[in-house]
Amino acid sequence: MVEGRWSIVVHGGARTIAHNRRAANRSGCAAAAQAGADILRRGGSAIEAVKVAVCILEDDPTFNAGSGSVGNAAGEIELDAGIMDGSTLAIGAVAAVSRIYNPVEVAAGMLDAAPILLVGAGAEAFARSRGLPLAATPLAPLPAADPGHDTVGCVALDQTGHFAAATSTGGLAGTMPGRVGDAPLPGCGFYAEDGIGGVSLSGDGEAIARTLLAARVMRALETKKATSAARAIFKPLERMQAEAGAIVIDAAGGIGLAHNSDHLAVAYAASDLKGVKTLLHQNELDEPDGQ
Ligand code: GLY
Repeated sequence: MVEGRWSIVVHGGARTIAHNRRAANRSGCAAAAQAGADILRRGGSAIEAVKVAVCILEDDPTFNAGSGSVGNAAGEIELDAGIMDGSTLAIGAVAAVSRIYNPVEVAAGMLDAAPILLVGAGAEAFARSRGLPLAATPLAPLPAADPGHDTVGCVALDQTGHFAAATSTGGLAGTMPGRVGDAPLPGCGFYAEDGIGGVSLSGDGEAIARTLLAARVMRALETKKATSAARAIFKPLERMQAEAGAIVIDAAGGIGLAHNSDHLAVAYAASDLKGVKTLLHQNELDEPDGQ
C-alpha cells in the first residue's frame, strides 16, 4: 500500500432506480462519501469514516435505512446494521430495532463490547446505556419511502492502512415481522480485514446470507484487485436467481464494484482522485488498472 493513501466508497442500494430519483441517489451518496473523505484526508480512522458516512445515508429519506426505511408486512419499521473494524476484527451489529434513528451508531458503540449482535429490545437497552438517542415510540415508515430500495453501506481505508466496512438497512418491504437479512451478518452483508480489504453488499438478503457473499469477495481479494474480486458475487447470485451489488476496496486502496441489479448507487473518493465521483451503474467506473 502507498504510504498515506486513503479511499472510501459508499452505496445507496442495488436496485432499479427510477429516472426521477437518480439525482437524489447521486447527491445523497456524494454527501456521505464527502463526509467520510474529509475525515480520512485529515488522518481520521476508517471506522469513524464509515460510521459517519452511513449515518448520513440513514438520515437521508432517499435511502432504505434509518428513518427512510420501508415497512414490513405489519407496516412497521425494523432496522438492521453492522460495522467491522478490520484492524481488530471487532464487530458490532443490531437487528430488528424500531426506535433507533441511527442503527450503525449503536453498532459502532458495540465494537468495544463483548456481543457482536444484539436484537430488538436488547439492542435498544444497549443504546440507552450508551446515551444514544432513542425514539419514544417505534419509528414509522415514511409514506414516501420507495419500497424497491435496498440498504446502504460504506467501505474505507485510512492513512494508517486500517480498513472498515458497514451496512445498514430497513430490510425488504413487506417481509415477515422479525425477519432479518444479510446486513447485520458479518461474512454475508459486510466484512473488513487489514491487509486484505473490505466489502459491503446490498440486495436479496436471504440469497446473500446463504452464499456468504462478503466472505467470497474477501477470499477473492486475497489474490485479486477490487473489481475482479467484487465479481465473485455473480456466480452464486446466478445460482440463487437473486439480485445484489457489492462495493469493495482492495489491499492497495483500489475501489471496485459489481452488481447484477439494474443499478447500484455509488459514490467514491480517494487520495489520488480529485473530488467525489458518483455512478449508478458499474459501466461508469474508471478502471485504470484494467481490472
Ligand atoms: N439486503 C438487505 C436485506 O435483505 O435485508
